[in-house]
Amino acid sequence: MTTLSIEVRRADPRDARAIAAVHRSAWIAAYAGMIPHRPLVNMIERRREDWWRRAARGPSTVLVLDVAGKIAGYATIGLNRVRALKQEGEIYELYLLPEYQGIGLGSYLFRECRGILRELHMSGLVVWCLEDNEHAVTFYRAMGGMDVAEGMEDFGETSLKKLGFVWRD
Ligand SMILES: CC(C)(COP(=O)(O)OP(=O)(O)OC[C@H]1O[C@@H](n2cnc3c(N)ncnc32)[C@H](O)[C@@H]1OP(=O)(O)O)[C@@H](O)C(=O)NCCC(=O)NCCS
Repeated sequence: MTTLSIEVRRADPRDARAIAAVHRSAWIAAYAGMIPHRPLVNMIERRREDWWRRAARGPSTVLVLDVAGKIAGYATIGLNRVRALKQEGEIYELYLLPEYQGIGLGSYLFRECRGILRELHMSGLVVWCLEDNEHAVTFYRAMGGMDVAEGMEDFGETSLKKLGFVWRD
């Protein structure tokens, strides 16, 4: 019998190429047809391997979901950026490769992010998500989040509504 190892760990600079590949695939799958093409391509191009290598060395926390040695997803976490919300922690991004979605790994990565923020003594958590990203909205509701805030995000000429989900400790 083969045992499948699944772990969430802090990213190493050597993971940069794999994270860039996850970022590209997950963002295209999630946002093509929602975010206009040019701004979407620009956002993806900015996050090449070098960007992720610097991010993994930097002060912010980049986590990877490692499934049997393959980077299947990533998350970035840190301090909540919106003062009006009193939760201290934030998951800035949480993305899985399309072929790894829908089998419980997103929930696992989310719970691990929450655990690490707690270990860092951050009470409560915020996640921002585009309202049109119905899959993610359903996911965050299923994780127990409450959408208590909203805002707009500009992508070139297009503005899209985003929802702020919170979890209280
Ligand atoms: C959103 C995302 C992180 C969810 O992770 P996942 O592994 O697919 O989700 P899980 O399998 O852990 O499912 C957890 C719950 O989310 C909901 N969910 C999952 N997939 C869903 C789908 N395709 N449609 C609707 N709800 C879904 C369900 O309620 C599910 O609970 P259940 O299995 O008990 O029914 C992942 O699909 C992803 O990376 N999507 C693309 C990127 C993205 O949108 N990221 C969020 C940006 S803010």
